[in-house]
Amino acid sequence: MYHGKIVGTGSFLPDFIVTNDDLAKVVETSDDWIYTRTGIKERRIAKDYGVSDMAAQAAKNALDQSGVKPEEIDLIITATVSSEYSMPSVACMVQGKIGAKNAFAFDLQAACSGFVYGLDVIEQFIKTGKVKKALLIGVEKLSQVLNWEDRSTCVLFGDGAGAVIIEATKEVYGVIDVLNKSIGTDWDVLTSKIKHNDTPYYKQGEDNYLKMDGQQVFQFACKKVPEIFEELLTNNGLETIDVDLFVLHQANSRIIERVAKKMGQPIDKFYMNIEKCGNTSAATIPIALDELNGKGELSGKTVGISGFGAGLTYGAAFIQFQ
Ligand code: UT7
Repeated sequence: MYHGKIVGTGSFLPDFIVTNDDLAKVVETSDDWIYTRTGIKERRIAKDYGVSDMAAQAAKNALDQSGVKPEEIDLIITATVSSEYSMPSVACMVQGKIGAKNAFAFDLQAACSGFVYGLDVIEQFIKTGKVKKALLIGVEKLSQVLNWEDRSTCVLFGDGAGAVIIEATKEVYGVIDVLNKSIGTDWDVLTSKIKHNDTPYYKQGEDNYLKMDGQQVFQFACKKVPEIFEELLTNNGLETIDVDLFVLHQANSRIIERVAKKMGQPIDKFYMNIEKCGNTSAATIPIALDELNGKGELSGKTVGISGFGAGLTYGAAFIQFQ
């Protein structure tokens, strides 16, 4: 039976850098508070790029790296929560921008777990034989949904995009397994309302700012990420020792440290780039994978990825890189 293999990665980070010191001029905060509590030093803000611009650039970079041509792509999935458009999907906009004329394209909304959810969906299409080559993108421009007067959230997030090209294969390399879960009873822990228009009959009223109970998300992540990795290991007859590298959603370095400790794993097995990018939601994992790939650090490795965020959603996957 077929399964998916990642044959190319790409990313795009806007060039405009906002440091913690820059933010201290906007809200009452400090480099010390932000760095100590989150591990973030700076983030990118997409002043001059829309969500689909960043996504298309990351996709082009992934295609170039893989050698796959745009017209060979059968399916495009974009994971995002911050598009400027309710319709069309970012995926269709990317399709137009990169010339992937033979693909069908849609967006997937699972917040910061979007990349892992997307991987699961693509795996199913590949297993049935319907899709041979797919493009999976995680992209966010969260700067446009943040309340820039709320220091408890605006310091955490950044903008950017990451993409992977996934090909059907019967080789041992590729996606070993993916597992995703959600806890809809906690939907209100992390929200961003869509801003719709007033009508003659009713008014909309509310803002669309991102709102979060940070501590609840923190506790949820530290509990559920080790649990889902454990379940996935058991399902596949693997042990933690078999995993060479972990790439977790980059929400807070303290979450990653806590997860490493709970799993009894050394922290240097856990990749981190949060210092430079902040939390780019659905984009954190593919951006990190592209950075690692660029440094040749994925070759021959078994990698565990895990996303977690609004929904609440969470998920994990193991991928064997060639
Ligand atoms: O992608 C998934 C979504 N997000 C996450 O995963 C985030 C998960 N949660 C977290 O990372 C952490 O909970 C935060 C970084 C958001 C907050 O860290 P914390 O250690 O839980 O801080 P706190 O919310 O308990 O706030 C501690 C204090 C408060 O002051 P008082 O009440 O103790 O006087 C806050 O008002 O820090 C204050 N504070 C700040 N101070 C300076 C909150 N934000 C800031 C700030 N600068 N930016």
